[in-house]
Order: sequence, then structure tokens, then C-alpha cells
Amino acid sequence: MCGIFGYVGKRNALPILIDGLTSLEYRGYDSAGIYIPESGSVKSPGPVKNLRLKLPKKMKGTSGIAHLRWATHGKPNQINAHPHKDCKGEVWVAHNGIIENYQELKTKLVKLGHKFISETDTEVLTHLIEQYLKKDGDFEKAVIKTLRGVRGTYGMAISYRKEPGKIIAARMGAPVVIGLGENENFIASDPSPILRHTKRVIYLNDGEIAVMGSDSYNIYTLDYNEVKRDVEMIEWGLDQVQKGGFPHFMLKEIMEGPEVIKNTLRGRLLISEGLAKLGGLEAVTEKLRSIQRIIIVGCGTAYYAGLVGEYMLEEYAGIPVEVEVGSEFRYRKPVMDDKTILLAISQSGETADTLEAIREAKRKNILTLGIVNTVGSTIARETDAGIFNHAGPEIGVASTKAFLSQLTALALLTLFLGRQRQMSLVTGRRIAQKLLDLPQKLEKVLADTKYIKSLAKKYSKYKNFLYIGRKYNYPIALEGALKLKEVTYVHAEGCGAGEMKHGPLAMIDENFPSLAIALKDSVFEKMISNIQEIKARKGKIIAVTYEDGKKEVGPLADVVCIPKTLEMLSPILSVVPLQLFAYYFAVEKGLNVDQPRNLAKSVTVE
Ligand code: AGP
Ligand code: GLU
Repeated sequence: MCGIFGYVGKRNALPILIDGLTSLEYRGYDSAGIYIPESGSVKSPGPVKNLRLKLPKKMKGTSGIAHLRWATHGKPNQINAHPHKDCKGEVWVAHNGIIENYQELKTKLVKLGHKFISETDTEVLTHLIEQYLKKDGDFEKAVIKTLRGVRGTYGMAISYRKEPGKIIAARMGAPVVIGLGENENFIASDPSPILRHTKRVIYLNDGEIAVMGSDSYNIYTLDYNEVKRDVEMIEWGLDQVQKGGFPHFMLKEIMEGPEVIKNTLRGRLLISEGLAKLGGLEAVTEKLRSIQRIIIVGCGTAYYAGLVGEYMLEEYAGIPVEVEVGSEFRYRKPVMDDKTILLAISQSGETADTLEAIREAKRKNILTLGIVNTVGSTIARETDAGIFNHAGPEIGVASTKAFLSQLTALALLTLFLGRQRQMSLVTGRRIAQKLLDLPQKLEKVLADTKYIKSLAKKYSKYKNFLYIGRKYNYPIALEGALKLKEVTYVHAEGCGAGEMKHGPLAMIDENFPSLAIALKDSVFEKMISNIQEIKARKGKIIAVTYEDGKKEVGPLADVVCIPKTLEMLSPILSVVPLQLFAYYFAVEKGLNVDQPRNLAKSVTVE
């Protein structure tokens, strides 16, 4: 949650800081602010564009820190905007996370005479550093002492007016990457704002700080021991984090679907052997032969991908699977033995609830795997083994292409584990071939989106929607409803079509339309009956179906057709019309599609 950015170098810091914030904007937009030691600070509630309006033409200075807020403590207003300062306006902190013991620290600091001006937890950091600076004026030591005394999570960029040629980064539970350029260095929450300057990065670990000058960087633990870390190269290109001619990232990312599936599959299918080759699982291949249970953990869209994964893995690999949201798993007492593994699914690789579920499993000696999109992220690093999605950066807050890649990775995992067990060569080959055919099929869905756009327009006057599906497409009903909710703020509920009669059907009337995924597969007839039940209550219906289902569905609904594929892979195609429907609906309502209110892309708080 929230974005931090820092620069120290020889160039004019202002445009670099603003640029950095703009690339991070999907992480938070409650307020934006910058601090440049030689010139001072500018802050504004709302997104970066509000901040831009307040900027003076020039601000002198070649270093600075910047912040985008996703408020946890205190209203999203001017006074609570970061960076925060100490009493003298010398120590400035941009913070992502939550300082859990801030109340007790604040009470102590107030007693010592410190004056607080914001309602944030963050402000205690500036005053604590100020307090320690009083002793010997050593900036680095003051930061380390401060961090030793705080509990909670942070990704931080710190600046000190008396030492403008230095910025300090710190990390505990919230991502921080440092970028190493020529005569300049950077701090950021993720690599996207660094890419245009350098591809050389180091991901900080929890409990580490980086002290950075324009030509130097040193990494220390909180015991003040220096650590040597390898420099990594970012694989993404700059074009991947820009809109490339599309009006919104969400549309661009939906349109990237076919390419994304190809990238997730690349080099991983052996068609004639009907096998999946997953390099990231090599080290644990033998262990995986004997596992008897998988617990999948994820949040939001990643959780729904897990639900599809459950059906795939149980049907084709014969392994019992449970799926749970991270926020539940971490606080209950899950029963696990040494034949159980935990599979975490996360686009960002930073979601706090998912990460804590992994840590909980590791404490119990459970093998952990990840399906993660962001290389270098905490979940990617903390899981024992895993599969990278290779979907490229996803910027739109609503997850679209990452979901397709999660489902594709789950299908690969199913093939991998299935072939270790009872799955036949013939079945393995069929799944592999059908996976390979998916990109082309998805291109057909995306070739003409006008009809979906017109449906979004036609239905945009309604305030409530029910999404229904069965079996593999039950989670797609849930995901379709989530997409609509998050980008249009319209109420939508997803439910298993068979569950409708146990409650949700009561809501249906002519003002409460439904979206049904009704593909000609093993549950088609049941779906048709459910659609009839809605029709009988005057409910309007949009249905996603195959060409060969049109005869039955056509008379009952507005129909969107997708190409036929294997039942287990059908969600990879059926979800896309629902993503497009939500997208065009939000555009029709004139909403900020890429940055829905109250949400952020990377959720590093509980
Ligand atoms: C999806 O559209 C959401 N914005 C959200 O549910 C997201 O999938 C969830 O927060 C999990 O994120 P992760 O994949 O980065 O862990
Ligand atoms: N807890 C801090 C605040 O509320 C930082 C939140 C964030 O991560 O944006 O201001």
C-alpha cells in the first residue's frame, strides 16, 4: 500500500520525484507530497495531478523524497500527507506501513516536549529520529536506534536537511527496492519508477537500511553490521509500464491477455510427452511426489484463481485441495502435516495477509510454493519454490491479465503434479495442446469488443447485479462481480448458480439483472435451468456461452460468445468478457478506472 520514492544525485530532483510518483500512482492516491532539503516540501490531498498544480516552477536541490498515501491512520487530508517532519523541520520521512506502537511512543515524545501536527502513526518516526539526533548528531545511528524501538511495518525513505547529499531507505514488512544509477541512486516501493533511470536494483530485506549518496550506497542491518548484497537486473522494459496508446491500463492489460498466456507458458510445455517443465519447482520435485494435500492461499482475485485451481488439481491431479483467504488462514489454527503444502498466489508478491499465511506455514515446517508475478517481491523470495507468472507489470488496480496468468500457471501445475501421479499421457497431451491453443482463442474474444461495450452502456443504469456460474466457472462469477464492484462501485454479488434458490433469487426482479456463465459443458443444462428461474422472475440476463450453446441461451439472454476449450481451461476465456464489461461500465460512468476509490494495488497492511 502506498508508494515511496527517493532520489539522490546530480540532477534537478523535482521532475524526477514527480515522475517517480506518477509511475507509482496505482499504489495509493489519498495524498501526494515531496520534500527537497534545499527547498522544502509541497503536499496535496488527492492524486499526483493535484500536487502538480501546487508546485512552484523551480525547486532547487539534487535530492529528495516523495510519497503517495493510502491512509491507515488519520484522514486523507493535507495535514496527514507525507513526508512528515520533526519539530524543527529537519528530519523528513515518507512511510509505507503501520507503526503499531505509535501511541505509546507518541505519549513519551509529547512528554519530552515534541509537538505533533498530524494524526498519522508515521509522525512518531520523525520525532524519534530528532530525539536521537540530539545525542551526537549522527543521522544513520539515529535512524537505526529509532527503528529498533518501533513495532509494525515500514518501507521508508528518510531525508535530513543538514545532510542533503544523503537519503536513507529502510524496510520491515513493506517492499523497498533501491536503484543504482550513474552518479545517482534511487529508493522506491517497486521497480517501475526506477526503470527509466536504471535497471540495476537491490531489493532490501526486512531489518535492513540503505544509506545512499549520489556515488555510494551501504546496506546495514539494525545491529549496524554492513551487508553485501548482489545487484539484480530488472527484466521489464519501460514500454511495459506505460499505457502504449490505450486510454487506461486496465484496457491495455486486458488486451495483453493472449501475450500474457504465451509468456506464462513459454518453454514450459513438452507437448509430445504431455508434460509441464517448471524450473522453479525443480528443487522440490521429489518432495512434491509424496504430498497429499494442498492449501491454496490468496486474497481477492488471487483467491478466486485459487478456487479454480482447486477444481483443476482435484480433478486432474487427484490431490485434495483447500482454498482460503490469507486474512483467515493466519489467525485460525489450520491442521497441517508433513504431507501438506501451502501454495500462495499473489500478483504483487507483497500482500500482507498472504505473506503472513506463508510465514505461519513456514513456522510449522510446511513446504511453501508461490505463484507470483513480481520477481524479487517478498513472497517470491520467502516461498521455498514456485512458478513466476511472467505477466509483466500490472498497473491497473483491478487485476485482469495477472488473473489469466495465475489460471494458466495453475493449469501448468496441475499438469505437472497430475503427470507425477495417475494422469495418462493422452490426457497430459490434451491439456498441453489446449493450453497452447488458448492465446489464439482469446484473440478472437478480444477482436471485437464493441458488442460488450454496447451491453455495458445498455446495463449501466442498473444499480445491482447477480453473477452466476457453476463448477469451474463458479469462481468466475465471483471474480466478475468483484471486477464490477471495484471499478464501477455498483453492487454485484457472485454466487454458485445452484445456491441462487437458497437466498439470492429473492432479490431478482426486472431491475436486478444477472450475468451467467453458461458454457456447453458438464453443467450446461443446470445453468440453463437457473437462467430460466431468473427469466421467470422477469430478471434480465447477459450470458457468456459457446457458439454451440447459443440455440439454448439465445432466446433467454443477451449473449456473448467465446471459443470452445477444455472445461478446466474455460475460465481463462470466460472471465475476459466480464472484465471488459466492468471496464466499459466504469468508463460509461466516467470513473477513474485504473485507480478506484479506497483501493490500492499492493496491499501491504492488514
Ligand atoms: C483485484 O482486482 C484486486 N484489486 C485485489 O483483489 C487483488 O487481487 C488482491 O489484493 C490480491 O493482490 P495480490 O495478487 O497482489 O496478492
Ligand atoms: N500509516 C501511514 C499513514 O496512515 C502510512 C500509510 C501508507 O502506507 O500509505 O499515513
